[in-house]
Amino acid sequence: CKSLTEAEKFDCFPDAGANAEDCETRGCCWIPAKTKPKDANVPLNIPYCFYPANYNTYNYINVTESGFGLVAFLRRSYRTAYPEDIHVLKMIVKYETETRLHIKMVDPVNSRFEPAYPEVPIVDRAAINLSYSFKIDVLRPGFKVIRKADNVTIFDANNFINMIYSNQFLQISTKLPSQYIYGLGEHQSNLLLSTDWNRFTLFNHDAIPQFNKNLYGSHPFYLSVENSSNSHGVFLLNSNAMDIILQPTPAITFRPVGGILDFYFFMGPTPSDVIGQYTELIGRPHMPPYWGLGFHLCRFGYKTLNETRKVMQRNINAGIPLDTQWNDLDYMNNSNDFTYDKENFNGLPGFVKDLHSNGMHYIPLIDPGVSASEVPGTYPPYDTGIKMDIFVKNSTGQPFIGKVWNKASTVWPDFTHPRTVDYWTLMLKNMHEQIPFDGAWIDMNEPSNFLSGSFTGCPKSSLESPPYFPAVDGGVINYKTMCMSAKHYGGLHYNIHNLYGFTEAIVTSFALAEIRDTRPMIISRSTFPGHGHYAGHWSGDIWSAWADMRYTIPQLLSFSLFGIPLMGADICGFNGNTTQSLCNRWMQLGAFYPFSRNHNTDDGIDQDPVAMGEQVVASSKKALNVRYSLLPYLYTLFYRAHVFGETVARPLFFDFTGDPETYFIDTQFLWGAALMIVPVLEESKSEVMAYLPSGVWYDFYTKSEIRSKGQTFNLSAPLDTIPLLMRGGYILPQQAPKQTTSESRKTKVQLLIASDENGTASGEFYWDDGDSLNCYEEKRYSLVSFELDSNVLRSFIVYLGPDIPPNLGSVTVLGIQKPVTEVMVNDLAQAFKFDTVHKYLVVDKLDVPFSKPIVVSWK
Ligand code: NOJ
Repeated sequence: CKSLTEAEKFDCFPDAGANAEDCETRGCCWIPAKTKPKDANVPLNIPYCFYPANYNTYNYINVTESGFGLVAFLRRSYRTAYPEDIHVLKMIVKYETETRLHIKMVDPVNSRFEPAYPEVPIVDRAAINLSYSFKIDVLRPGFKVIRKADNVTIFDANNFINMIYSNQFLQISTKLPSQYIYGLGEHQSNLLLSTDWNRFTLFNHDAIPQFNKNLYGSHPFYLSVENSSNSHGVFLLNSNAMDIILQPTPAITFRPVGGILDFYFFMGPTPSDVIGQYTELIGRPHMPPYWGLGFHLCRFGYKTLNETRKVMQRNINAGIPLDTQWNDLDYMNNSNDFTYDKENFNGLPGFVKDLHSNGMHYIPLIDPGVSASEVPGTYPPYDTGIKMDIFVKNSTGQPFIGKVWNKASTVWPDFTHPRTVDYWTLMLKNMHEQIPFDGAWIDMNEPSNFLSGSFTGCPKSSLESPPYFPAVDGGVINYKTMCMSAKHYGGLHYNIHNLYGFTEAIVTSFALAEIRDTRPMIISRSTFPGHGHYAGHWSGDIWSAWADMRYTIPQLLSFSLFGIPLMGADICGFNGNTTQSLCNRWMQLGAFYPFSRNHNTDDGIDQDPVAMGEQVVASSKKALNVRYSLLPYLYTLFYRAHVFGETVARPLFFDFTGDPETYFIDTQFLWGAALMIVPVLEESKSEVMAYLPSGVWYDFYTKSEIRSKGQTFNLSAPLDTIPLLMRGGYILPQQAPKQTTSESRKTKVQLLIASDENGTASGEFYWDDGDSLNCYEEKRYSLVSFELDSNVLRSFIVYLGPDIPPNLGSVTVLGIQKPVTEVMVNDLAQAFKFDTVHKYLVVDKLDVPFSKPIVVSWK
């Protein structure tokens, strides 16, 4: 026992009430730790009760090679402290692709719960040219996954020292090859996770985001950057509640309370490759409608349509670009789904039609909970649901009753039930016939319940009191949600809980496509791996506080890792009252959330830009105009996410993996490879320090060049300005900002070209009709690429579909060292301007179609 260092100790008594005697009964070592974890924020102590080094649990009894990899059987050596050990396990190892390995451990006798979503491919032949090797020694427990190229062990099941596979408690650990680990959501923290005895609890939950709390979604996925700067990813496909422990070894331990151990390994080797490989498995991000990338205005508590209209109009009058007006549940009658308040929101259908005629859109909130307290025969959403028998059931087979916003009681559609697709489509369709809404904001779908269980609590069983209790907020597993014994078509709530919001998003996406025959725009609070294929997310009920604003950046970037690029946070904060100075900086940052919406709670002050005063209006206009001007670029990034699984908003280390300085940075971020956003995150500051990785950068506003060798710069950030930097070597498509994206999309295309130190740059531009379904898949798009070299810019038509972008109107080239004396566009001389101070060239007043290659050259 004494030979193990603190970092090497794996907790043998994670349950409450550890003591020496019970610890030793488990065959473990008891030595009270002398030191405390370094980071005061982390929730765990160094374990007093830990596994001895020679402890091993499962041994191989046979291993057989097969066409897809191998199959092994393992037998448990002795009993664990947890009931219902599974004594014999089957391990199926599949070499699924060159870069993806799949290891699944199941009970060969009794089948156990496995999530039906995301739908992962079933592979039955081993791939060739594997970049990894899977190593076992039949005579010794454990396995290793090794990167072939450099022999680094990326997963080391540690001799199965602490592996447990009992009915309601599964555990496995691995040593990590480095301290650089990201992901494991949803939680609030820095982007780079602390391995100093940290614990993440995954169980979907409605709570005000705080460090160490389980939040709305569950993502048992991590990305690790190895010391060599290669990266890999690991995904545990399991929907049960779980704790995940990080310790300084460095090592990680997974502790789900059910399901199976089903791991996928992604070998990268770049962070971007890892996410591409991950989303290839769980589903690529969906293509949002173009208008969904515009600015959205919302609040809880407009209370009337007049107020909604007034707030929207004052912002339009002030020149704030605005695409979509939202309503929270106050538009509903008695907070009941699929109704609207015909008194306070009288005229809502006409309002939505007016928005449409102005090129704008409308999104209402939809809660999953349906009122069970209306007079029978008066509320079809309940009556129809009962008739179709699609509500989640309690343990005795009646609809499970809880309470959310509705008058007295609530029932919930079971989105795993095949008939619920028809039910939900019908409900949304009936509503759409009255109010022709354009998307859905699906909230409270953890599912959140104002009760813990039903009115009478929950029937007592090991489902409600599992033998191991993950550190879920509230101290009971059914805290503010359904009973774990509630029954869905797809299984017990105990197993389905984390899938509830995801399955709602899948069904809602199907229903919206069916009803509107255009792209679904869905923002959901609860998420699970695969969610990005159907919908986006926002970070829930954060405080209107500087700290919360700062943590929206790692939250955003983590969701990029989870394959959910359409992500944002309530701009200016949700809970509490915002301030002018906070909202000023938050509108600037929020203009660069891929999903950009200002929203707050019903007891907060108005926080739309106009309500916040002139300074906020000026800053919002400036930042949102930049956003709108860059939408062709942002949309092209979404196309790359959709088709190749690339990230949209991304951490610096994705593009500068060779530079370890970037591993820690989560107060700056990138849009694609080419644009860096450096928000001001502190009050009363008009400068901000930014780390610029080695290369050529340009101030987006002045166009002046900054050459960095990998240094920190002090950037000027007056109140109305968020610092933005263009990266040398890239070409961005732009259009003129207008009141709405519908208007912007009609303007001529502008190219912004930032040369690198060799005077070269490249880029691309994806364009389609912006709203119809499957444009890429059905080849109704155009794709143009650009190359700059030796003072010649050329466009290349990669694909020309029926939708061709507006003509090229201007070209701006940054970083031209010698003054320009002549410019030719497709062999014709053109007027131009050259700025000798900041060394950039502008050729405007062009009108050149993209349907033929374009050549712009200068001397
Ligand atoms: C909770 C959501 O997180 C919040 O955004 C919304 O305003 C309230 N529900 C009321 O619907």
